[in-house]
Order: sequence, then C-alpha cells, then structure tokens
Amino acid sequence: MADHHRARIEFDPRFTVAEVPDRLFGSFVEHLGRCVYTGIYEPDHPTATPEGLRGDVLDLIAELGPTMIRYPGGNYVSGHRWEDGIGPKQDRPRRLDLAWRTTETNQFGLGEFITFCRTVGVEPNMALNLGTRGLEEALDLLEYANHPGGTHWSDLRRSHGHAEPFDIKLWCLGNEMDGPWQIGQRTATEYGRIADQTARAMRMIDPGLDLVACGSSSRAMPTFGAWEAEVLAQSYESVDYISAHAYYQPHGGDLASFMASAQDMELFIDGVIATADAVGAKLKSDKKINIAFDEWNVWYQDAPAPEQAEPWPVAPRQLEDVYSAMDAVVFGSLLITLLRRCDRVTAACLAQLVNVIAPIMTEPGGPAWRQTTFYPFAEASAHGRGTVLGVNADAPVLDTAKYGEVPALHSVAVANEDGTITVFAVNRDLESPLSLEIDAATLPAFTDVAVSTLTDADPHAKNTLAEPERVTPAVNKEVTVKEGLITVELPPMSWNTIRIA
Ligand code: AHR
Repeated sequence: MADHHRARIEFDPRFTVAEVPDRLFGSFVEHLGRCVYTGIYEPDHPTATPEGLRGDVLDLIAELGPTMIRYPGGNYVSGHRWEDGIGPKQDRPRRLDLAWRTTETNQFGLGEFITFCRTVGVEPNMALNLGTRGLEEALDLLEYANHPGGTHWSDLRRSHGHAEPFDIKLWCLGNEMDGPWQIGQRTATEYGRIADQTARAMRMIDPGLDLVACGSSSRAMPTFGAWEAEVLAQSYESVDYISAHAYYQPHGGDLASFMASAQDMELFIDGVIATADAVGAKLKSDKKINIAFDEWNVWYQDAPAPEQAEPWPVAPRQLEDVYSAMDAVVFGSLLITLLRRCDRVTAACLAQLVNVIAPIMTEPGGPAWRQTTFYPFAEASAHGRGTVLGVNADAPVLDTAKYGEVPALHSVAVANEDGTITVFAVNRDLESPLSLEIDAATLPAFTDVAVSTLTDADPHAKNTLAEPERVTPAVNKEVTVKEGLITVELPPMSWNTIRIA
C-alpha cells in the first residue's frame, strides 16, 4: 500500500475463524506479594464482605470481566500444601514460601478461593503441586474438592461448611516444570510421565475433567519445542491442553520491537500447535491438544525488587509494576492475538489479577484503582464475545530490530451475538496516526459506529494512587462513513474498540 498512513481491512460475517471460548478471558491469583492478602482478601478493609473479600476490588473485578481464575500459583504452587489452607483459620500453619521468600499465613485457602469465585461468578482453575508433591496429594485434593460425600476427604470438606462439592473442572498439572527456578524442576521425560499418571488417576475419580499439561515457560527456553514434544508423547491421550506462558517488556530501549511483541506470541502459538499436531499425527490420534495460554502479560522483570525490612515477610509489595499507556497498547495487541488464534488457544489467563503485575491496584485500608491495562481487557471481555471473523488486511509496515517488518495495524473482528461487529485495532506506530478504512460492503446494514480509543501524548503516562484516572479510554469522534467505507482515525500508539451496530 503506497500511503504510509492508511490501512484497510475487510471481513465477511460468513467467513469465521472460531467461537470465542469463555475461558479466553481468564485471570490468575497467586499467593504472591499482595495479590491475595490486601488484594482480594482484607477482612479489616472498610468495604470487606463478611467473608473478608474487599468489596471495592470485587466491584472492579466485575467491571474487568474475567471468566475463569487460576489459583494458587504460579511458582508458589510447587511448594504448596493444600491442606494448610482448609479448616478453622486459627489452626492453620504459617509456612515458608520458598518461591517468593515470604511467610504464608494460610488465612486464605481453597474454600475461600471457591467462595471468591462464586461471588465473582468465574470458573475456578486449580493448579496442582507436582514439585514437592505428587499423585497422592493430587487425588486427595480432587476428592476433597469434588466428591459429594461419604469419604474421608469429602466429609472433611462438608465439616468445613461446604456441603456442596466445589465442582472444579479445570486443573493444571503443575506449573512451569521446565524452569530451573521451579521447586522440583523435572526433565521433559520425568514430567511427561508424572503428568500422564496424575491425569489418568484423576480421571478414575472424574472422567469429565479438563487437564492442562505444562508446556514451556517461554518461547525463549532452550528446551522449547523439544519439551512439548516429549511431554505430549507421554501424555497425549490423557490431557486436554498444553500450557504456554509469555511476558513482554522493552529491551535496551527498543520500543518499536516492544510494540510488536504480539509477533512473538504468534510464533509461540504456531510452534506449540505444530509440535502438538506432529505428536498427534505420529500417534495416529484424532484428538487435538489445544493451548492454555495460562500466563501472559507485560512484565518489567528487570525492575529491582523493593527493599525488605525483614526476612520472610508476610504479603510484601512484590512485582507491583505500574503500567503506562504504551504498556496498555502492547497488552491490547496480545489480546488481539489470543482472539485471532482462539481456534486453538481455547483458554488463557492474564497474570495476574490484583497488585502483582495486575490490572487492579489497591492500598491496604485504602482505595483500589484501574491500571492502564485494565481497559483493553475490560473492553475485550465485554465486546469480544461471539465469533471471530477472518480479516484481510492491507497496512503499511514498520521496521523492528527483533521481528523485521511488521504491519503497523494489528486487528481482529468479532461478530457479537447481538448482531454488532466489534473490531479491536492497535496502531503500533509510535509516531504516525493511521487512517483505518473498514470495507462495509460485506457487512449487514448498520446504523451506528462507536469508537473508544486509549492513547496518550506521553507514552509513559500511568495511573497511580495520586492520579488514578490519568489514562482512560475516550470516545473517538474521528469516524466517517462514506461510499461503503467506514474510516476511523487511529492515533499513534493506540488501542481502539470499534463497534459497528
Ligand atoms: O506470574 C508470576 C510468575 O511468573 C509465576 O509465579 C510463574 O509461573 C511465572 O514465572
């Protein structure tokens, strides 16, 4: 395309990619920093519910719109003893958490998590400790959680005030078991066998479970590809998903590559699908393994850890990244990729939910507010439901050091159930606006085009306790409809939600 400031897309509601799975808008609560304590759970907070959940945070979670929440880790899960977090709170032990070098009080555990999920209206996704523990504890936990009654563990649950089973369908078989930082790291062969045995035994209790085997902790892992191939060679018929984790940040001031981070996510997804399908083909299996992208976000991993006054603190400030307008645009682009690939990425979790690399921040005893990244997630969860459409795009390209030439426009179209078509579009160009033309010839008659845009003249602008609404989306009135074309002006570095009703 000759014009460097003009892009064009076309789609046809008859040509679809896939239904958007409910589990695509998952999030993640780990016992890490202040995600649980003074994040979702703070019994002395002025807004606390009788169960000790922060009411102000519950309201923001409802607005954010997650559909499923993974718990209790993360790296934490590989040393977790689930029995510590059940029964009377005064009897629960305090333990060292080796993953994050803190003290875990266990005042919030499995029962509290299920109450939280039911209050918020999300599906629970439970991760198992396959680091320090194994098959037996996994079966005990499953029996405690899901068996109706009449056995040791299920009657114990009932005695703890939970007469109804928790009915947890989705389970992660460990976390990042390929990582040298993981307590109980395994080789692919060791882990594949443990995952297979655990999955088979769990299905003896409940054949209807959905089970996630650990894939690679990132595409940069030296074992990426070989890990998935070996783990799935061992467990293909007993699991449903293979996980993927990815976190992005700018490196060496290379903002153009950072803006194009979704390219890495695309390549990651391509690689995992190719590997999983190759294993399936070799096994002559009709089954497809899908991806649970159960940790994704922008994360400034190089940021120095805050000073700690004491060793082994309880719920210290850890990983409390404060996100900029630019981070939110990159974050939105990652969401676009998850939607574009939702034929095979059928579950995903934004890591994490509150305070820890999170869209929601809180002060202990004080307010809660929305980070910049809150908005793309909330808009995608609210308007990204229905059917993803195939999009043809013609856009100018940008040069990046890491990914070569990338299109300046990153977009996806979703046909919503009410007949609206929602286009999510990111302009990756940090300097230039982009005129986006949407070919309306193939669309049903429409009466309204509404556009919401998140951008900022200062790409580093952030929302903070002092200025919680510094960056918010605004109505974009730069829309024209003429001769079968809808034209929307996308500012530089912007996330845009275009609703054609
Ligand atoms: O989300 C933060 C951490 O990132 C998780 O505990 C771990 O699984 C990943 O490395």
